[in-house]
Amino acid sequence: MSNDSQIVKFFKNQTIFLSGGTGLVGKLLVEKLLRTSFDLKKIYILMRGKHGKNPQQRFDDFFNDLCFGNINEENRSKVSFVSGDCKKPDLGLNSEDVDILKKETTCIIHAAANVNFRQTIKEASYNVSSTKEMIKLAKEMENLKVFVYVSTAYSNCVNNHIREEIYEPPIKAEAFLDLVNTCKEDDLEKIILPYLNKWPNNYTFSKCLSEDLIKESVMEIPTAVVRPSIITNTIKGPIPGWINNYHGFIAITSGGYVGVLQNFYGKKEKKLHLVPSDFVCNCILAAAWVTANSKTFIVFNCVGKHINLERLVSAVNTLFWKFPTMKCLWYPELSIIQNQYLYNAIAFWMLMLTYCIDFVVSCFKKPAGATKIIKLITQQANVLSYFTSQEWSFDEDRFMNLWKKMGDEDKKIFPFHIDAIDWDKYLCSCVLGIRVYLFKDPISTLPKAKTKFRIMFVLHYVIVALFYCLLYVILTFLAKNFWYK
Ligand SMILES: NC(=O)c1ccc[n+]([C@@H]2O[C@H](COP(=O)([O-])OP(=O)(O)OC[C@H]3O[C@@H](n4cnc5c(N)ncnc54)[C@H](OP(=O)(O)O)[C@@H]3O)[C@@H](O)[C@H]2O)c1
Repeated sequence: MSNDSQIVKFFKNQTIFLSGGTGLVGKLLVEKLLRTSFDLKKIYILMRGKHGKNPQQRFDDFFNDLCFGNINEENRSKVSFVSGDCKKPDLGLNSEDVDILKKETTCIIHAAANVNFRQTIKEASYNVSSTKEMIKLAKEMENLKVFVYVSTAYSNCVNNHIREEIYEPPIKAEAFLDLVNTCKEDDLEKIILPYLNKWPNNYTFSKCLSEDLIKESVMEIPTAVVRPSIITNTIKGPIPGWINNYHGFIAITSGGYVGVLQNFYGKKEKKLHLVPSDFVCNCILAAAWVTANSKTFIVFNCVGKHINLERLVSAVNTLFWKFPTMKCLWYPELSIIQNQYLYNAIAFWMLMLTYCIDFVVSCFKKPAGATKIIKLITQQANVLSYFTSQEWSFDEDRFMNLWKKMGDEDKKIFPFHIDAIDWDKYLCSCVLGIRVYLFKDPISTLPKAKTKFRIMFVLHYVIVALFYCLLYVILTFLAKNFWYK
């Protein structure tokens, strides 16, 4: 890699302690660091057991992901894991690992978080307590140069305009953690409710409190808070369109792609700020470099380019039809419903319909799961409706200054700012990425999927026609027998 890159030079001989390394942002960070910063010393990933696998077994699988295709064995050997869990005191680390981390770490990137919008306040409190544990550890690190906290641009979404600064939370993070530790879990939701006030979910609230904790506690450590907006598929590297989670708008797009989500509540003209995941990682690495050098506390609103909801939905619908997937369960056609009452009525009707489908299916002694799927996907769309029915504006001065400070070589290696996104091209790679990397449906199935799509199309419109016929019959019957009587 080039000798002219200041960021590459910064990461020479650095040892990084990364939490969230198995997630979307974390994996891309590891990949980018290994691909660009050959002189990097070590990356320690905080790894917990999950889905019946212990941390060692998860680590053994770690590099099997397609996104690591360009990383050779020598570079892979620079990555190790430390067993731990953000929900536990001291991050669940054993004392030997703590000693190693304290001695060796020069850069912390704390990206781990439970990002579920529907989590309980107790669950969300771990996002705050893990940040507290991370800060405690950071303060004991002998060689630490920089601490980067990955937050969200919506940590203060109760405001319409988001500045690049830490906002005063409705309750101090320490006081919140005291309540969590002293109250019964059942009472906790009620006690916290007045503080939650206008926050749409416990996740964004936990991010706001975590930011407060950082501002209050890490004064002596150069610290960057990077706030990405809605993270989407990679735009450039390592593979365009790569994605590994179903968060945010990816959930709506995936539900729509397989046909189980047909309608969601939103306002067509509202702007969504999408930011490609590889750009987020590049911004995090650039933020680490600049913050370590400036030795200050900086907040970066890492917001992407905006697209209005109507254009986005219309583009993905066209792509669903162009690249249908074998995984589709129904004819895919996403619609934005702008009236909350109409949306509720449609959602209720869909639920009734799936109860009927499940009833018919179970009569044939087949497993019935339509209601469960629809309920899940509708709940997900409902929690996202807060973000699809409003829009925010963001200060971007620090984010833009970061870009301006970078040399030409850094801009080439770590791009995160572009004047305009070619939406048609990018959304095409997003939809194909969902198909290939999330649904595991290779592009070779396209001809078969097109046949399935045609069948679904006919079936869909036959059922719609039957529905209107039935409605007509019922209404004329009612009119004849009751209205004109
Ligand atoms: N996705 C977005 O649209 C978005 C937008 C703005 C900001 N962000 C922020 O970006 C960061 C990364 O998000 P992401 O999209 O990469 O999410 P993700 O794919 O869900 O990854 C979350 C990461 O956190 C780890 N984690 C969660 N709970 C943990 C625990 N108890 N102990 C140890 N590790 C734990 C997960 O590990 P496991 O593999 O063990 O679960 C995973 O590595 C988060 O801080 C999030 O708040 C995300």
